[in-house]
Amino acid sequence: MERKLQERKVNNIVCRCEEVTEQEIRDAIRKFNLTTVDEVKRLTRAGMGLCQGRTCGSLMEKILSEEINKKVSELLPLKKRPPVRPIKIKLLAKKERESE
Ligand code: FES
Repeated sequence: MERKLQERKVNNIVCRCEEVTEQEIRDAIRKFNLTTVDEVKRLTRAGMGLCQGRTCGSLMEKILSEEINKKVSELLPLKKRPPVRPIKIKLLAKKERESE
C-alpha cells in the first residue's frame, strides 16, 4: 500500500516558498541519484525560500529517505545558513555594548 502511494503521481506542494512539488523532488532524486538533502535543495530550489527550509526541510528529508531506503536519522541534515531572518546590524552592535 505504501509503495503504491509512493508511485502515485503526486503534485503536493512541499516547499511553499519556492512552489516545489513532491513529484519534482522525487523526479530529481531518481534522475540524478541524489543522496543528500542539500543536493535536493540545490537542484530543485526547495529550501531556498524565505523560511530557509524550516517548513519544507523535514518533508524533503522524509521524501529522500523513502527514495533511497535510508532512515531520516542516517541522512546528513539540511545545512542552515544564518541569519535565518535579516536583522539590523545595530541590534548586534547593541548586544555587544551591553555585554561589555
Ligand atoms: S517552504 Fe521551502 S523554503 Fe520555505
